Amino acid sequence: MSDIDRDQYLIKEEPYYRSVHNEVEMYQAAYDARMPVMLKGPTGCGKSRFVEYMAWKLQKPLITVACNEDMTASDLVGRFLLDINGTKWQDGPLTVAARIGAICYLDEVVEARQDTTVVIHPLTDHRRELPLEKKGELLKAHADFQIVISYNPGYQSLMKDLKQSTKQRFGGMDFDYPATDVETEIVTHEGGVDKETAEKLVQIAQRSRNLKGHGLDEGMSTRLLVYAAQLVAKGIDTQSACQMALVTPLTDDPDMRDTLSAAVNTYF
Ligand SMILES: Nc1ncnc2c1ncn2[C@@H]1O[C@H](COP(=O)(O)OP(=O)(O)O)[C@@H](O)[C@H]1O
Ligand SMILES: [Mg+2]
Repeated sequence: MSDIDRDQYLIKEEPYYRSVHNEVEMYQAAYDARMPVMLKGPTGCGKSRFVEYMAWKLQKPLITVACNEDMTASDLVGRFLLDINGTKWQDGPLTVAARIGAICYLDEVVEARQDTTVVIHPLTDHRRELPLEKKGELLKAHADFQIVISYNPGYQSLMKDLKQSTKQRFGGMDFDYPATDVETEIVTHEGGVDKETAEKLVQIAQRSRNLKGHGLDEGMSTRLLVYAAQLVAKGIDTQSACQMALVTPLTDDPDMRDTLSAAVNTYF
C-alpha cells in the first residue's frame, strides 16, 4: 500500500489558470467537504487546467483517467495479473487514488459505459469505500480522496448520459469559453502573441461559436486559439496559422470551411 509513490502524482509547479468567476472558492469549499464534483462544459474551455490548478493549490496528488467506451470496471479498480511467480493484484487508477488520497479526475466520463461508472458509487456517498471484490478487500478511502468528473453536455444523448443515480452524487460546476477580455488574456499568455492578435483570434472563435448547431457541432475552443497563437508566435503568417489551428480541425464540410475562412479574412 505504502509502496505507491504518492509524490509522482503531485503537481510541482503552479499551472497557469486564469480564474473566470468564483470557481476556485467553490471548488475549495467542495473539496473541504470532500464533495464529488462534476465539471460541465465544451471541449477545450479550461476544465482540465482548472483541476490541475486546484490539485496544485490544495497540494494533493492528481490521478487523471481518460474515459472511453471500452473501459471496464477492472480498468478503474484493478485486476490480477499473471507473472512468473503466479498471479499478482494490480490496483487500477481509482484504487490507487483512494489509497493515497488523490483527487481522481475521470475525464469525459459519459464515454464510459454505465456499468463501469457505477463502481464509483460507494466512493461517492457517506461510505467512501471501494469493494475490491476479486481481491477480497474492502478499501476505505483515504481522508484526502476526492472524485472529479468532466463531461461535455454538447455530446449528450439518450444513449450516452449519466444515470440520475450517478449524477445526483455530485456538485456541478458549469464551464464555458471565457468573456472576450479574459479569453484574450489567456491566449496572450499561453500563445505568446500580442494582445491585438489574441483579441482577433477570440473574435474569430466567437463567430464560429455562433455556428454551433448551424452546421458545426462545436465552435473553436480556447485550446485551438492557443494553438493558432503559438503558430503565429513561431513566425507563421496569421492566415496559415488560423487555417491549421482553427479551420481544418473543426470541419470537413467545404462550405463551412469557406464560412470559417471568411471569418478569418475579416480579421486578418
Ligand atoms: N481559465 C483558463 N486559464 C488558463 N488557461 C486556460 C483557461 N481556459 C482555457 N485555457 C487554455 O486552454 C487549453 C485547453 O484547456 P483544457 O483545460 O485542456 O480544456 P478542457 O479540459 O475543458 O477540454 C489549456 O491548455 C489552456 O492553455
Ligand atoms: Mg480536458
